[in-house]
Amino acid sequence: MASPELRRKAFFFVIFVAVTVLLISTVPVVELWLQSDVFPKFGLVFAKGWTLTEASADVPMNVSYANALDTCFRIIKILLWMALVIAAVRFIAYLILQAAYRNSAQPEFSSLIKTVSSIVVYIIAFFIIFQAQYPGVPLSPLFTGSTILGIVVGLALQETLGNLFAGIAMQADQPFQVGDVVSITSRGTGVVESVSWRGVKIRTFQNKLLIISNAVLGKETIEVAPKGNLNARVVFFNTEYHYSPSRTIQIVREAVRQVDNVTNKIRPVVRIRDLGVNGLDWEVKYWLEDYTKYNDTDALIRQRIWYLFQREKINFAFPGLVLHKHQEPETIPPDVKINRKTEQLNEVSLFAPLSDDETEQLANASKTRIYAPGEAIVRKGQDGSSMFVIIRGAVRVQVPENGYDKTIGRLGESDFFGEMSLLTGEPRSASVIADEETEVLQIKKDALKPIFENNPALVQSICELIDERRVVLSEEAEVEEEESPATRRVRVIGSIKRFFGLR
Ligand code: CMP
Repeated sequence: MASPELRRKAFFFVIFVAVTVLLISTVPVVELWLQSDVFPKFGLVFAKGWTLTEASADVPMNVSYANALDTCFRIIKILLWMALVIAAVRFIAYLILQAAYRNSAQPEFSSLIKTVSSIVVYIIAFFIIFQAQYPGVPLSPLFTGSTILGIVVGLALQETLGNLFAGIAMQADQPFQVGDVVSITSRGTGVVESVSWRGVKIRTFQNKLLIISNAVLGKETIEVAPKGNLNARVVFFNTEYHYSPSRTIQIVREAVRQVDNVTNKIRPVVRIRDLGVNGLDWEVKYWLEDYTKYNDTDALIRQRIWYLFQREKINFAFPGLVLHKHQEPETIPPDVKINRKTEQLNEVSLFAPLSDDETEQLANASKTRIYAPGEAIVRKGQDGSSMFVIIRGAVRVQVPENGYDKTIGRLGESDFFGEMSLLTGEPRSASVIADEETEVLQIKKDALKPIFENNPALVQSICELIDERRVVLSEEAEVEEEESPATRRVRVIGSIKRFFGLR
């Protein structure tokens, strides 16, 4: 459906065309009338201010009067035709403009293209109409013989033409559109408000208007953050050294996700930028829904991080020179340490058959290790001489499948892994990856040997568990087990005994 505006314009256009065509067709009649034998006297009265007697004496009409009349009417005809062309061009441009608004996702129909193409049409139309009225006047010298005129006009319009051509190049390239945020080196940043054939208007974030000509703009480096695109920002902060990085990443990312104008289509990235002099230097990269509000969003993110750190008792690393008095690392008395590990080992059902002394002996020989999220604790195919008990965190067990890593099991606190390789001497059967920050107790072969000697039941229960895990592994590998479960168990027990040199 045509809009009321379009209908109004179409109505006026039709009326205008009708009137102009009427005038154009009337001109020859009037001309004929003025030049006819009947009228010349009156013609002369009007044209030359003669009296009727003087005019009558001059009849029939003189040649110069006829020529003047002829020129007059030709000019009127040229003007009327040009008016018709201008009206038609403007109406068609309006129709194209409407179509461009409807069909295009970015409806900026350039006023520059409209202006330039209209001028070209006007010039061509003028030459055609002029030639029609004065077929005898050669127009080609106007193009060929106008070198000097061209130079003069060219020099006078150097700036304007420079802007015009830079504007045309910019329109062809379309490096930015109205609504985009642009940063122009040494000039400033703001939102593009209009693009014309002379230059660009940019509304700065201080609500000022920056007007830059196309010729100048063409020489600048421009950074564009397109409207409707998810543009990213980076905000910096720092923390003292002793906070767990993975915990910091987790809580800051969650806090940033909650901030208005941060898109939920892409997860914010929180990462360590540098191991700085005063602490860890961090950056958080996030994507905005509306880039024009990046100053407010950056500020809100900093504010949320401040409050978050207050709640979580995390300190920012203040810049400055911090003198550290040498201090012995906090020394937990060895017996307290061992007690803690013993408690942790007591939680593991596998070690339930062990006596208190044996558990303590095992705790004594084990070491605490901490792993970052995503870090591999053991890798498939490697040789392994230790097993691990999870004290804090979670891991996933993975095997390769069709070029991907498939997770075949997940283990959490008080679970253990790495026993297969440790006990049988075979390479690691799978990779074990920390899902989150994970702390484990590492137990080496030497520590287990005396315990196995005294606890045949322990060997038996470990074999059962190895058996269960083997079944899952062979199912995943789609390998038919050649031996029965009973034979396999005997074989595993045998290989454990051989490996540890047990009788
Ligand atoms: P190991 O072969 O030494 O190294 C990889 C470890 O992954 C393996 O010991 C087991 O502890 C563990 N593992 C293998 N298969 C499974 C499974 N199906 N479920 C849980 N853990 C497993």
